[in-house]
Amino acid sequence: MIKKLTATAILALGLATGAAQAAGGGDQHIEDIAFSFEGPFGTYDKEQLRRGLKVYTEVCSACHGLQYVPLRTLAEPGGPEYSEDEVRAYAAENFTIYDPELDDDRPRKPADHFPTVSGEGMGPDLSLMAKARAGFHGPAGTGINQLVRGMGGAEYIYSFLIGFNGEEQEVAGNFLNGNDAFAGGWTSMPPQLEDGSVDYDDGHNNSAHHLAEDVSAFLMWTAEPKMHARKQTGFVAVLLLVVLTSLLYLTNKKLWAPHKGKKLDL
Ligand code: HEC
Repeated sequence: MIKKLTATAILALGLATGAAQAAGGGDQHIEDIAFSFEGPFGTYDKEQLRRGLKVYTEVCSACHGLQYVPLRTLAEPGGPEYSEDEVRAYAAENFTIYDPELDDDRPRKPADHFPTVSGEGMGPDLSLMAKARAGFHGPAGTGINQLVRGMGGAEYIYSFLIGFNGEEQEVAGNFLNGNDAFAGGWTSMPPQLEDGSVDYDDGHNNSAHHLAEDVSAFLMWTAEPKMHARKQTGFVAVLLLVVLTSLLYLTNKKLWAPHKGKKLDL
């Protein structure tokens, strides 16, 4: 009973302080977004992933690689689900790769990965970024916020992309941009997304907020392309455990039934 009360109290505390603590490190501001892939039955929104891929291709790929993501996965179920021909065309149109056999660059094929990008002014690889950053922390190191709102990797990326506050400073020759979501408040990445930076083929709203939301969803998919399969397996496992528990309960009842209510011969 006391345990239960304590647990409830901690949970209530977590919810109450959730808003204030959501940003974790104290002053980082992370927006909570209701992404389609959240919750036990959430799945990726195919159209959103396609839009996010477009934002990545047209804007982010200039400085960020996705080296762990094979291009062919763009055709796999649960992802953007392009046809194999579309993936072939996308790979060939957008990225080249050095081929040692030809001793020259050639267009990428579905079997190749997205490019690896490195060098001066370039950013970190984004393949797993949505899993490497947590949007929500605390309160007080308990992690209850993540129980309630999820890890928030996609939310972090979204908040980072729209978190530029217009401030700039130069430190030892490096230009830094003020960003309300970035730990420490200053990042070397320049602001990227403005209303209308990318035109969507499906006519979807392309305000900066939507662009950021879509590319964040896409980066969640690159980090966890098998999320749907994982959730399905989990659901089946829980279902089997429920069946097993009921059977064991009934077996237990049946086994002990003849002895119930008997007086003990002491
Ligand atoms: C002009 C080059 C450039 C472009 C274009 C660019 N970035 Fe970056 N990005 C950077 C650099 C440089 C960093 C490293 C920033 C730092 O550590 O201060 C970075 C860091 C990041 C990070 C990591 C932040 C962290 O917490 O460490 C994310 C996420 C990110 N970029 C996402 C994106 C997305 C999404 C796009 C496309 C909408 C994009 N970037 C476009 C240069 C760029």
